[in-house]
Parts: sequence; C-alpha cells; structure tokens
Amino acid sequence: MAVSPVLTVEQLSISFPRAGGITPVDDLSFSIARGETLALVGESGCGKSLTSLAIMRLLDNSASLGGRILWRQEGREVDLVKLGKSEMRAMRGSDIAMIFQEPMTSLNSLHRVGDQIVEAVRLHRTVSRSQAWALALDSLRVVGVPEPERRMRAFPHELSGGLRQRVMIAMSLVCEPTLLIADEPTTALDVTIQAQILDALRRLRDELNMAMLFISHDLGVVSEIADRIAIMYAGKIVEEGSTDQVLDRPAHPYTRGLLASVPRMLDSRSQRLTPIAGTVPDPRNFPPGCRFSPRCPVVVPGRCDASPLPLAPTSDQRLLRCVHQF
Ligand SMILES: Nc1ncnc2c1ncn2[C@@H]1O[C@H](COP(=O)(O)OP(=O)(O)OP(=O)(O)O)[C@@H](O)[C@H]1O
Ligand SMILES: [Mg+2]
Repeated sequence: MAVSPVLTVEQLSISFPRAGGITPVDDLSFSIARGETLALVGESGCGKSLTSLAIMRLLDNSASLGGRILWRQEGREVDLVKLGKSEMRAMRGSDIAMIFQEPMTSLNSLHRVGDQIVEAVRLHRTVSRSQAWALALDSLRVVGVPEPERRMRAFPHELSGGLRQRVMIAMSLVCEPTLLIADEPTTALDVTIQAQILDALRRLRDELNMAMLFISHDLGVVSEIADRIAIMYAGKIVEEGSTDQVLDRPAHPYTRGLLASVPRMLDSRSQRLTPIAGTVPDPRNFPPGCRFSPRCPVVVPGRCDASPLPLAPTSDQRLLRCVHQF
C-alpha cells in the first residue's frame, strides 16, 4: 500500500513479571494505514485483547511492554509505549478510539446514553453543551439507531444488546478518530444486527478515512470487512496477507484449521466441518519451537518443535511462520 501507515507495531511483547514472568504476546509486528482495515484473528486466549489494550495503553502496571508502537500523523511520530499518561489520555478517544469486547464495561449504567456521548464529545472538543448534544444525536443516526432523540434519554439497561453496541460505536466515533480498534464488536449479536453493524463500520471507515484494527475469532465476519488479515496463535502472528490470499489460499496449518471450523466458509460439496483438535496453550506453558506444533496435522518432529521459527516473507508476498513453504 502506497499510503504510509498511521500505526506501526514493532516487535511488541507484553509480559507480566509478577505472574511468573509470562509473556502472552511476543514479537508482534504489523502496520495499518488510513482507510485500511487489518483483522487480527485467533482463538480465545491468543492475546488479541491484550494487544488492543496495549495500543490504547490501558493495561495496568502489572504489564510490562517491550518493542515499539509508533504513531505517525501529520508529520509527527511518537512511540505510544513511551508516551506520558496525560498525552496518552489526550490521544485516547480523539486520535485512537476503541469499541470494547464487553459493551457494558464502557457504558455507565447510572447515566443516560445521551449524556455519556455528550461527555465523550466534550472531553476532546471545545463545544457548547447544545452543540455536543447535536453531534451526539448525529452519531446515533449515523450508526442507525432508530428514534435517536428518544434513545438519547434512555439508560443503557433500557436498550437491547444490539442498540447498546451501536451506542458504543457512536460514542467511539463521535470524535472522528484516525484509528478505530474494534474488539469483537459483533460477537454477542444475532446475524442480522451483525450485518448492520459491519455495514455501519464500513461506511464510517470510508467516510472518515479511518484506519481500523478489527479483532475477531470469526473468519466469516472478517471476510466482510478486512483488507488484510493477521492470524495470531499463542501470542504470535503465524500468517499475514491480503484477505483474498489468506481466505482463498490459506498457508499456515492453523489458518487452514480455523477456516475448516467456520461453517459459512466451507464449500459444502467437498469439505466437512472439522474443529481443530486440542486447545490454545496457556502462556505459562508455551511449547518450544512452533507453538502450534502439538496440534498441527503436518508437524515435522525434530524440526517444528525444536526452536522458534521466524515470520518470513513467502514467494507470494505474504508472511508465514512455518517450516512448510506454500
Ligand atoms: N492481566 C493479566 N495477567 C496475566 N495474564 C493475562 C492477563 N490478561 C490476559 N492474560 C492472559 O493472556 C492471554 C491472552 O489473553 P487475551 O484476553 O488477550 O486473549 P483474547 O485473544 O482476547 O481471547 P478472547 O477471544 O477470549 O477474547 C490469556 O492466556 C490470558 O489468560
Ligand atoms: Mg479478547
């Protein structure tokens, strides 16, 4: 992509010295440009949420970050890993916004929805209360909340899960961020609402020329929105490429396994739904060598389980961490 990235994550590691020195996220590198969506995909416990919280600098002091998280905007470059608390607070919400995995954790049940969006606007913009109210109302309209005037006066518990999720999206987009991090934004929702939310996100991304980090365990959902896909396993990226490359010609055995376990992604005539046997290893017990090797159907004993493998470019310009080359 010709446009230079707004976010470049370089060899990010996240460890917890007081939890036995575990490193659930390791050697993580990727970049995202404006207008572009990168999906981070992997099973539960792979480190997706930790990664997004690290970028937002929302991890508490028990976490120790290594590597760099470079932010480049209007000729300015900062490393978010080193940024001071108050500077980071100013960036959060205005430059980088996040839709959290659990909507109720970011909505305050004691305050009306409208007041919470107005608050989000006034935190980052010097506008009057009535201007902020108008912007908040607009943001609800943009994400397709019906009867937005009435909803502005509702409390979160008075709204359905789908509406709450839209309020969350409205709140994160009201200040027109440069980067939106969406952590499983549609997982709890039924397919119709899921489709509407994906549609709203796509539209807003294009209108605002936003960069988007879209986190999901569901390749079916990701195929609807991502330009590029990074597949994450046990804290490391194992494959990264364009959406077409990764979905049409998956190279890593883990990516193949993920695809074979998504009903919608299968060609029903030739393939059967096969979940990947086994579970994601606990960070206290990461296997040596390739972390997927204990579950891998094409493991080469003595090679795959010996020492860690690099994430290396392939002949078709994707990145792959595997002894097998495709
Ligand atoms: N504060 C913490 N201290 C120690 N370990 C942690 C901490 N937070 C998360 N972990 C561990 O890091 C790993 C990755 O967690 P994370 O929440 O990032 O996974 P995820 O990919 O978002 O999973 P899910 O799909 O279930 O949301 C897990 O093994 C988790 O137990
Ligand atoms: Mg998560």
